[in-house]
Amino acid sequence: MGTGRWLGFLLILALSASFAESKYLKYKDSKQPLGARIKDLMKRMTLAEKIGQMTQIERAVASADVVKQYYIGSILSGGGSTPGLRSTASDWVNMVNNYQHGALSTRLGIPMIYGIDAVHGHNTVYNATIFPHNVGLGVTRQDALIIIIDLDPELVKKIGAATALEVRATGIPYVFAPCIAVCRDPRWGRCYESYSEDHSIVQLMTEIITGLQGEIPKNSKKGVPFVDWKKNKVAACAKHYVGDGGTNKGVNEDNTIINKQGLFGIHMPAYLNSIVKGVSTVMISYSSWNGVKMHANHELITNVLKGKLRFRGFVISDYEGIDRITSPPHANYSYSIEQSINAGLDMIMVPDNYNEFIGGLTNLIAKKAISMSRIDDAVKRILRVKFTMGLFENPLADTSLSSKIGCQEHRDLARRAVRESLVLLKNEKIGSGRRMLPLPKKADKILVVGTHADNLGNQCGGWTIEWQGVTGNGLTSGTTILSAVKSAVDSKTQVVFAENPDENFVKNGGFSYALVVVGEQPYAETKGDSQDLTLSEPGPAIIKNTCGVIDCVVVLVTGRPVVIQPYLSSMKALVAAWLPGTEGQGVSDVIFGDYGFTGKLARTWFKTTDQLPMNVGDLHYDPLFPFGYGIETKAI
Ligand code: GLC
Repeated sequence: MGTGRWLGFLLILALSASFAESKYLKYKDSKQPLGARIKDLMKRMTLAEKIGQMTQIERAVASADVVKQYYIGSILSGGGSTPGLRSTASDWVNMVNNYQHGALSTRLGIPMIYGIDAVHGHNTVYNATIFPHNVGLGVTRQDALIIIIDLDPELVKKIGAATALEVRATGIPYVFAPCIAVCRDPRWGRCYESYSEDHSIVQLMTEIITGLQGEIPKNSKKGVPFVDWKKNKVAACAKHYVGDGGTNKGVNEDNTIINKQGLFGIHMPAYLNSIVKGVSTVMISYSSWNGVKMHANHELITNVLKGKLRFRGFVISDYEGIDRITSPPHANYSYSIEQSINAGLDMIMVPDNYNEFIGGLTNLIAKKAISMSRIDDAVKRILRVKFTMGLFENPLADTSLSSKIGCQEHRDLARRAVRESLVLLKNEKIGSGRRMLPLPKKADKILVVGTHADNLGNQCGGWTIEWQGVTGNGLTSGTTILSAVKSAVDSKTQVVFAENPDENFVKNGGFSYALVVVGEQPYAETKGDSQDLTLSEPGPAIIKNTCGVIDCVVVLVTGRPVVIQPYLSSMKALVAAWLPGTEGQGVSDVIFGDYGFTGKLARTWFKTTDQLPMNVGDLHYDPLFPFGYGIETKAI
């Protein structure tokens, strides 16, 4: 072959090689090491594409076009934000896939990650299993609390796995859970999202992360995020970093006034457990520490969380969290962006004004108020989570897991969690010489009263279908405590229900005994802040009109300890049921003796609110029921 032809041949060879090279995208090759994929992708990204990855927007302002145009890296459902009323799994999957197509159609095709609050099951989704809120889970199966905390982390791990399955069934790969707050004052409206006032219980409960994300491989590098995609797991989020449960008087989003030893000794330990378990993300708290907003706290976010604790996932803001750096919120948005990104936040839950955020951040980088190295750190962390969880290989969801939503196996697990979350606080002898509990299934006629006996929304509490929860029935599927009682008693036993009876009705009804189910109306976040912690009306009157007349057991459905001492002497038995969720049979299983009471208080039960804050270990400690208290009974 002549020289010219040889040269022509070599040229074609070189061109085809470079063409092949340009077609081959290392970051898309799952056989490549994680670091190589991140490096390859980073070097291809423009500034706009990097800023897009740091931007999380609410689904209500999102569309495939917006995602494509602004290279949006993440979308969320805020509390109660759904594709429609009673949306099905395929409604959710279609919605998430639609946004994902927008992301995949960008130049580099980086998949977006969709996040949602699944804090006691997949609580936004109709027909999903709603588990007890964390305040109840922190109670499950403790023995001799002073000596050994025999908590059942296996139970919360199973709950995490069930929740992950139901979340993935809707096409969502990321949850803003668990909340690992250590609630130190029950006046805080989010105390029910906290497992305990004792950090050691919260640390044990971080096992839910393993349920959500999967077992982290033994040889994993500390702090590196891990999600077992093939086992239908999701990325988790330890929140809210740090000290959210320690604010002054329990005022939500307020100031946590405590020295470094106290902050690191009480509020920090569960983050260490979470990082060791490979938690993928950490959400920053709205609150302040000694007057410094957490969303602007470089020392605790960059130097401690990312430095000393070597957290390698990404740090996300709370909803409009950067806006609230200033007072009033959003007063100086450019300052908020600068402070939060330079403090070490990687992804910003904007969630609506993404134009303003993207424009503001772009300007601050242009002015060198924020360095490119800070931006690259943020984007690397976001990509690390997306690559690690397999989102590049599996960006689109399907409806193959639809049957897992609210499946019987999960409801049975939730029923078990309800049983083990109940705490028996009083159980006196009655006329016949036996103790009030367990109740006999055989009786001529029994009375069930109270605002929470036949009210699924009240027994689920906040963060259920709606952000603030929904009182009443019909919000989703489940079993009320009344329905559970009717199924549990002997077929010949007549069950009479009266939500708010007067004394005469109780006196003249010929009832063998009464079950009183009262508590708090649903609430979430600041709406739940309470300085007086009283039972929702007409709870006190119902107790008086019923327990003052016949033998009664009171079941409290509350997100925290409430004022109960004034009514205690009138009741023969008292049970704390917290916020049990959809499976009310867990309550009837135990009050009728099919199972024994095993729960021990994971929170101190005060006498009066002027004692607060009062926690186990305090010098002045004079509770109505102490931390770790709970009467045990045997199944009959
Ligand atoms: C809320 C909560 C946070 C939640 C986020 C998204 O305000 O503070 O716990 O994950 O916004 O809904």
